Parts: sequence; structure tokens; C-alpha cells
Amino acid sequence: MKFAAVLLLVAYAAAYVRYDGYQVIRVIPKNVNELELLMQIHNDNLDKLSFWKEPRMVGRFVDIMTTPDFADDLKSLILMNGMEFTINVENIQDQIDQEREAMSSRPGIDVEGFNYEIYHTYDEINQWVDEFVATYPTISSVFTIGSSYEGRPLRGVKIGTSTATVSSLFLEGGIHAREWISPATMLYMTQLFADGYGVDQKTTELVDKLNWYMLPVLNADGYAHTHDVNGDRMWRKTRSPNDGSTCIGTDGNRNFDYMWGGKLEECITLVNAGSSGIPCASTYRGSHPHSEIEIDSVTKFILQDPSFKAFVDFHSYGQIWMCPWGYTFDSTEHLEYQNTSNKRCVEALTAVHGTEYVYGQSATMYLTSGGSEDWGYGSAGIVLTHVVELRGDSFILPAEEIIPSGEETFAAIRALGDTVLESETLPEANIRMT
Ligand SMILES: *[C@@H]1O[C@H](CO)[C@@H](O)[C@H](O)[C@H]1NC(C)=O
Ligand SMILES: [Zn+2]
Repeated sequence: MKFAAVLLLVAYAAAYVRYDGYQVIRVIPKNVNELELLMQIHNDNLDKLSFWKEPRMVGRFVDIMTTPDFADDLKSLILMNGMEFTINVENIQDQIDQEREAMSSRPGIDVEGFNYEIYHTYDEINQWVDEFVATYPTISSVFTIGSSYEGRPLRGVKIGTSTATVSSLFLEGGIHAREWISPATMLYMTQLFADGYGVDQKTTELVDKLNWYMLPVLNADGYAHTHDVNGDRMWRKTRSPNDGSTCIGTDGNRNFDYMWGGKLEECITLVNAGSSGIPCASTYRGSHPHSEIEIDSVTKFILQDPSFKAFVDFHSYGQIWMCPWGYTFDSTEHLEYQNTSNKRCVEALTAVHGTEYVYGQSATMYLTSGGSEDWGYGSAGIVLTHVVELRGDSFILPAEEIIPSGEETFAAIRALGDTVLESETLPEANIRMT
């Protein structure tokens, strides 16, 4: 079975990956037994199924992508085991085709200015960084954290006018390649700072009193692979090879050096330790912490600057705003304060378009180990560390949702900026543990 899966992946690597007739089936597990059954069904059919949302929590939906030939079997297995399902995506290739068509018919990017209403390639985003700072030199500059495995520069836009030492926020997108709404939302939020500066009093204050480091695409190679005609729209991981395996890539968001690999005792009933040690798995944690140059670079960049007081890592999908810990159900020392920040961000977000988010401690919604939120708090000592699953029901979100996603998420990060400013007079909340 495993051998077949490997062969399939190798065959895929040589050509543009198609998803004709692939479906995404959604199940809401009612108890731990059902969580385990779903994991078992998946593990028994690794060559036919792959999770879009893994079974983590009773009552929280699980999304399973199935090959067309196995769809009926999967549905029977679910029903036979006393569970129900809905079809979340009828045909993945249809969504991909629509998305590609929308991208190919788009207007040019440098004639009428940058078009935020469409998805962009890595190269376009890289060019956008230069165009943005050339257009808004008084409030922005370029920062570089390093280069990807394949040598792509990892660059972002720093927003802020203050020349004094002020608190900084680090916001990153695109650690998981296929979650396109994340970089798109990052770009539009950056533009909203520029649009609001000198126009809107709150935005002006936040630009004058804080530094905002906006890194749109951390996993540049993976993101480029999702756009490549010889690539795979559903790619998630980095693109570095793995010793002794034909499978490529590590899950960047399982590669951070804090409780890397998890605390197994707590996870046994959940079958999964929040990351995988198998190189072919989509949540492969890597051969060692920070094995991925992208993760090594971003963590070094954050650690060298003690002004970082907030760190947010944007993902999709599912509409969740989270705080540490992700690897354990234990509470952090600052959970109440962190959850208040969750609440404040979500209330500001929902007020814009009515989009409903859930919020709370990461582990209680989605057990992960080696994730950004645990590193941000546990290793970098940044109390206001959040990980966010942006809006939507699929990794393929219509481009019409980019602007609303940017608008609502911008309201959330403005609320976070307020929390950072207030924390400056709250020493116990303002710590950097390292
Ligand atoms: C966060 O706050 C919400 C709303 O008050 C609450 O339901 C939830 O249990 C809290 N989560 C944690 C982890 O404290
Ligand atoms: Zn993600």
C-alpha cells in the first residue's frame, strides 16, 4: 500500500497534477471513537485519501480528500460506522480550473497599479515588494529574512514611521503553500496601512507608534510549486528533499524548535502526536527542528530583535483565531490575557463583514507540535502569539473573497496593535522571556 502511494507521488512529480473527480468529504466526529475511526480509515487507504482537515477534536469538522474511484467506498465506510457526511467539494479540478481561468484573464499588474482582487505568483509578489516601497517610501521599507531552499529571496514590507525604538509586530503568511488566501490577505492588509495612513486616525497612530513586519510568503518554494504548470495546486510543504525517501518536503509549521515532535503521552488517545515522523506525510516534522531554511531564517530574524511583541502566522481555512499552547492541553501562564487578545481580534474581525470565527487555545481545536505559536511564545517569549485559520471552506477560495478577507483581518490586526500599545504599560504582559 505504502509502495503504491510512493509510486503515485513520483508519477505526479513529473507532470501537472490533476484532480479530476476528486472530492472532499466532510464528517463531524461525535466522539473520540469516531475520531479514531476516521484516522484508521485514512491510514488504511493512504494512496487514496488525504486529509484537508485532520481529525483532532470531537465536534470539529474533518475534511477528507478522496480519489474518484474510492469516493463510494469512503462514503460506505463512513455510513457503516454510524457517521454521516456531506460533500464539501464536488470536484476539485473544477475549482482549480475556475481559479486558473480567473488568473489567466486578469489585467496586467504594473499598468493600472497592483490588482489585489486576484491571486498572484511568487514572482509577482516579489516584484510587489519593490513597487510598494517605491510608492510609499515614507511609511515603508523592504526587509529580508533570508532565502528559500531553492534560492528565492524571502522578503517583506516593513510598515512604520518611527525612528525611535518602538514595539514591533511580525505577521507572516504562506507557510503552507496551498493556502493562497493567506499571502493574498497579507498583501491587501499591507495596502490598507498605506490607504489609511494620514486618512484614518487609528491606522495613522498604529503606523506612527509601531513597526509592522509583513512577510507575505514564508514557504516561497512551495507557493511557487502550487502555481507551476508542472506543479501541484494542493502542495503544502517545503520543497527540500528528504534523505532516504523519494518524498519531498517538510511541513514548515511542524518544524519549529519548541516541543518539536510533541509530548506523546497526551496524544495517544488522539492517535496523532500533532506531527508526523514519516517523510511522505503532509505533516512531516522534518529530520530535526529548523531543518528547513525558511523556518531557521524566520526564527533567527525574530530572535535578533527584542522589539517584537506580537507574532501572527496566517493559514487557511476554517475561521479560527488561536493562541498557545498547541502541543498540550495545559494552560500557558498568560492564557487569560492571550485569550482576551483572541477575543478582541475576533470581535473586530466579525464586526466588518459578519464572518464568524471561533477562538481559544490552539490545542483544544487543533493539536499540533512544532508549530509557530508554541515557538513564538515558548522560545521567543512573545506573549501575543497567534495562529489564524482564515475564512473559507476550501484551500481554493474564489478571488472575490480576497478583499473582504483583507478588510476583516485588517480590523483584527489593528485590534492586536492596540493590545500591543496598551501592553507597553502592562509590564507583566509585555515580557520577552528570551
Ligand atoms: C476563551 O474565551 C472564550 C469566551 O470567553 C471561552 O469560551 C473559552 O473557553 C476561552 N478559552 C480559553 C482557552 O480560555
Ligand atoms: Zn496551514
